[in-house]
Amino acid sequence: MEQYRQQIAAFLGQERENWHVFDTVDSTNLVCKRMALDGAPDGTVVIADEQTAGRGRLGRSFQSARGLGLYLSILWRPETPVEKWMALPALGAVAAVRAVVRVCGAQAQIKWPNDLVLQGRKIGGILTESVLLGCGAAVVLGIGINVSHRTEDFEGEVRGMAASLETVAGQSVCRAALAAALVEELDALRREALTQPQRWLEEYRRRCLTVGREVQVITPDAVRRAEALAVDETFGLQVRYEDGSVDTVRAGEVSVRGLYGYV
Ligand code: BTN
Repeated sequence: MEQYRQQIAAFLGQERENWHVFDTVDSTNLVCKRMALDGAPDGTVVIADEQTAGRGRLGRSFQSARGLGLYLSILWRPETPVEKWMALPALGAVAAVRAVVRVCGAQAQIKWPNDLVLQGRKIGGILTESVLLGCGAAVVLGIGINVSHRTEDFEGEVRGMAASLETVAGQSVCRAALAAALVEELDALRREALTQPQRWLEEYRRRCLTVGREVQVITPDAVRRAEALAVDETFGLQVRYEDGSVDTVRAGEVSVRGLYGYV
């Protein structure tokens, strides 16, 4: 573990404080939430070599085998009103794409709302959770990227849709370099979002592969076929159903799948 920490430190430089690397944790999001309750500062980063209870969106789990993936959470205490926090997972997705491009040149895309995709396979995901504090609230943004998994390292139905960066990009990827790049991109985007709020929304839209596709909109009660039309200012997905009605679906409420597969 010390080696992973030292490698990250070498890439990150000395300026960046408040980042922690653990061997095994239940979930970096949970660790980060506990730290938030104990008063950890804005920007605190938690990275782990392995998660035993990695958490995914909509109550799913996130497979987090030892040594194979990047499991990272960052704590933010945004000054902006809570209504604007809806955009934070999308911001995380843009940061992750930028980090992947920087470290290995692979042109990752985003499947709405914030799955990371490379050549039609899921290589990562993002889970944002809020923390209620006595004096306000904070947000924990958790990002998981499959770095070195082979197909057989994934279990169950995940095997049919997931892949690792190394397998898809066809090159070896340094997990510590990716971790450092991700921290830097998150820090940079956090600053950029305050000064140029439209810029990364445009980048999100450019990278989002869902728009223009025929999709299935999945809720606990129904699966409906629709065309994905656009991503709005608050990162809702505008869709047109087969009966012609147009609606905007929200990340916390639905999953979206392609008609014939994951994307
Ligand atoms: C998803 O694909 O549904 C989101 C997956 C998010 C996984 C990351 S790994 C780091 C952080 N800790 C967690 O328990 N989950 C997120």
